[in-house]
Amino acid sequence: MKTIRNLELKAEWLFKQKIIRGPCHLYVGQEACAVGIEAIINLTDHLITAYRTHGFAYTRGGTPREIIAELAGRGAGMCKGKGGSMHLFTKTFYGGNGIVGSQVPLGAGIALACKYQNKSQVVVCIYGDGAANQGQIFETFNMAALWKLPIIFVCENNKYAKGTPTWKASANTDFYTKGDSVPGIRVSGMDILCVREATRFAVDHCRSGKGPIVLELKTYRYLGHQEGDAHLSTHPVASRRNNAGMRGAKSISRWQ
Ligand SMILES: *[C@@H]1O[C@H](CO)[C@@H](O)[C@H](O)[C@H]1NC(C)=O
Ligand SMILES: *[C@@H]1O[C@H](CO)[C@@H](O)[C@H](O)[C@H]1NC(C)=O
Repeated sequence: MKTIRNLELKAEWLFKQKIIRGPCHLYVGQEACAVGIEAIINLTDHLITAYRTHGFAYTRGGTPREIIAELAGRGAGMCKGKGGSMHLFTKTFYGGNGIVGSQVPLGAGIALACKYQNKSQVVVCIYGDGAANQGQIFETFNMAALWKLPIIFVCENNKYAKGTPTWKASANTDFYTKGDSVPGIRVSGMDILCVREATRFAVDHCRSGKGPIVLELKTYRYLGHQEGDAHLSTHPVASRRNNAGMRGAKSISRWQ
């Protein structure tokens, strides 16, 4: 968790130096989610996420050096500098995805492949509270339940979709209940032991052939949605700190 925190703070600094450009969504505050999940699943299991990818790139086998180099678009990056912040990959890590929610049906596809090939692997498929009302997510829930796919739908609920609080955008903010025929549980995403034990429960559920499950992690990010809109940070201290870097951030606003 400390390595991820340091990696992200370094990325924040490099963004302000304009060494990292383009999207840069930081995971500061949410580290317990990544590390709690990875404490249970194997590297042979599969993981796909959305915008905040750097922590998982590390837990899935990337080195801090390869990750920072990738963010900076250098050839030494883990995708030769061609992917950047949102497209970091390893053999069983399918990166982030720029289209809100679209990693969810992709994750179900990976789960279908596992099932089809008779592998006992599970897929961890992560989305945020901001994507949770996407139509494609409900379509995926239905097919995953119908076909009993070995997939854990993890809703990382950090309370804000960019700057919009969950209660302003979601009629039902109990995201673990939104799976209809997919059962769900909710634990604190700020407590690594809660995340670990809930993941253990969810993985057992999947591996025993019972099909998909939703796992809502209630967490919080301390910085803005992305470095380009750091001035929108919900955290007063972080916001003040970030305002100092706004000059650099504005110059890349065309990327947002
Ligand atoms: C990880 O893989 C090993 C070896 O295949 C297996 O024994 C173990 O049960 C797996 N862990 C989980 C959580 O499934
Ligand atoms: C998976 O197992 C089923 C049932 O045993 C078998 O019919 C099928 O051919 C297997 N699929 C693969 C890809 O091995």
